[in-house]
Amino acid sequence: MQYKKLNKEQLIAEQSQLLAEFAALKEQGLKLDMTRGKPSAEQVSISNDILTDVGADGVYSEDGTDTRNYGGPLGIIEARRLMGELMGVKAEQVIIGGGASLNLMFDVFVRAWIHGVLPGQTPWGQLEKVKFLCPAPGYDRHFAICEYFGIEMITVPLNEDGPDMDMVEELVKTDAAIKGMWCVPQYSNPDGYTYSDAVVKRLAAMETAASDFRIFFDNAYCVHHLYEDEQARLINLYDACAAAGHADRCYIFASMAKITFGGAGISAMAMSPTNFEHQARLLGKQIICYDKVNQLRHTRFFADKAAVEAHMMKHAASLRPKFAKVEEVLAESFEQGDILKWTKPLGGYFVSVYTMEGCAKRIVELCKEAGVALTKAGATYPYGIDPQDHHIRIAPSFPPVAELDAAMRVFACAVKLASIEKLLAE
Ligand SMILES: Cc1ncc(COP(=O)(O)O)c(C=O)c1O
Repeated sequence: MQYKKLNKEQLIAEQSQLLAEFAALKEQGLKLDMTRGKPSAEQVSISNDILTDVGADGVYSEDGTDTRNYGGPLGIIEARRLMGELMGVKAEQVIIGGGASLNLMFDVFVRAWIHGVLPGQTPWGQLEKVKFLCPAPGYDRHFAICEYFGIEMITVPLNEDGPDMDMVEELVKTDAAIKGMWCVPQYSNPDGYTYSDAVVKRLAAMETAASDFRIFFDNAYCVHHLYEDEQARLINLYDACAAAGHADRCYIFASMAKITFGGAGISAMAMSPTNFEHQARLLGKQIICYDKVNQLRHTRFFADKAAVEAHMMKHAASLRPKFAKVEEVLAESFEQGDILKWTKPLGGYFVSVYTMEGCAKRIVELCKEAGVALTKAGATYPYGIDPQDHHIRIAPSFPPVAELDAAMRVFACAVKLASIEKLLAE
């Protein structure tokens, strides 16, 4: 059915049917939480073997480091090599962090704020104004970091091939207060989009008014494909920057949080040798070492990138029925582009839905009334404000398929009700 083609009487008739359906859905007394993109219990169990004993003399890393003791703030060499392989850089460019890459990103901001991005550069905290480009919809916690530091966020539309580069180039060329930009270059949170070769090359080559401009490439979903035969391909971010003569422009981040255990994986950041020296020196004041035992567990579990990729296909097998369920209920309930548009990602953790303007908050509210908690409408935009109030992030990974089915039926009914309210008001 195309709701936009219905006349007033047809809409009213449809609305009364939907209200009855919604009342019945509410009666089910659901209590479902789809607010965050967490791996399910089944997914985290895939990595259970990581918890077993590494062996009698298994506590030594390949260069003989006793991982049970202090030392090695940059991480054990095999972990740096493995994460380097995932990020497309050399082991020497990689610093291994703790269980959360978000923590590494936050710390890079702190260092830029207090010390500047390199020796001799003005600390961002001493500037009257610092601005950041934020492709949106994006990851709410990136935007929260900017808010923490009082950084002014400038929203840039995110297209299927990456951020609107005409806008990005124009802004960074003219405004020296723009010090950086957030990017989730593969299977973006929440749209699942991957940056095209052209976008990566333009990001690497563009002229910036600020000499200390930095791109935070958060490649959180670098191996998180849903299918074996159809996968996104991202060109090497660091190589593109280096080739354009801007090797210092990028910090690259990655994480095992959605490969092994949420909050208990290993995280990593990679950068140019110049950036590395600065970050490593300041990191040395902050920590003696992260958890090297966990690093060793991970490298014993994954010999190389191929092992990680094989492992990710197990996650994919667990996730595919959930993404299929979302697609099934949406395709059954709507004609793509009528009152709803939605993404069909090849990887990552989310499906984005775009409602009619001014309906997203109402839909999330209706779902809550029926016991289905969704990510707050607007959360994926800077300051939590979606100017068109039209985006909702669906996070299908955590609930079992049967619960997801129930939640998606509530969601579909809520979308129809809110859209009819809007159409009738028009
Ligand atoms: C884009 C992005 N970056 C980072 C993270 C968090 O990673 P970590 O758990 O390593 O901090 C997430 C989790 O949802 C994410 O979507």
